Amino acid sequence: MELIFATNNAHKLAEVQALVSDKFILKSLSDIGCTEDIPETGITFSENAKQKSDYLVQHYQLDCFGDDSGLEIDALNGEPGVYSARYSGTRDMSQNIALVLEKLKGKENRSARFKTVISLQLNGNQHFFEGAVEGKIIDELRGTEGFGYDPIFIPNGYDETFAEMPLEQKNKISHRSIAVQKLCAFLNSQ
Ligand code: IMP
Repeated sequence: MELIFATNNAHKLAEVQALVSDKFILKSLSDIGCTEDIPETGITFSENAKQKSDYLVQHYQLDCFGDDSGLEIDALNGEPGVYSARYSGTRDMSQNIALVLEKLKGKENRSARFKTVISLQLNGNQHFFEGAVEGKIIDELRGTEGFGYDPIFIPNGYDETFAEMPLEQKNKISHRSIAVQKLCAFLNSQ
């Protein structure tokens, strides 16, 4: 059975395909010829993830899922949140990180979490799967692995930032892998 993942990231697609039973053949947006910019105008991760899956149902009538992720920092009232990718107004992560560190200057509470929400549309039904990893923001950049805010985020129970961990280690505990595992457990039970 074909299931569309609302992404063009081949790495994400392969990661999820490896966890899902052979019953489901995952396809990307480019696989189905979808080149439109799917709107992402929600103010929560769930809304954005749902916008992606709703779009594919409305325009392609296909079973599908979409995801949305980001970083929530308690001392910044949950920012950057859904604006994680363009917090400073650009996609330049060194500027986005610099803005976070600037806003956190002098703040004692460093607690934060990465979150992922996946929205699945299967046989006309809507399902959500969430993953989160709690941690804290440090005031310098450490490590070169990973992407995004990884160099300033230390997950609880660890001394290294996500960017100092080997990818396999991050993948075992990340928000994305928790959400993906929940999605896969559900699909494999169908
Ligand atoms: P996306 O929805 O997975 O594309 O994530 C949106 C933005 O959140 C990314 O551009 C990153 O800035 C941030 N983000 C999401 N996941 C991670 C992560 O695992 N590490 C660091 N930053 C992340």
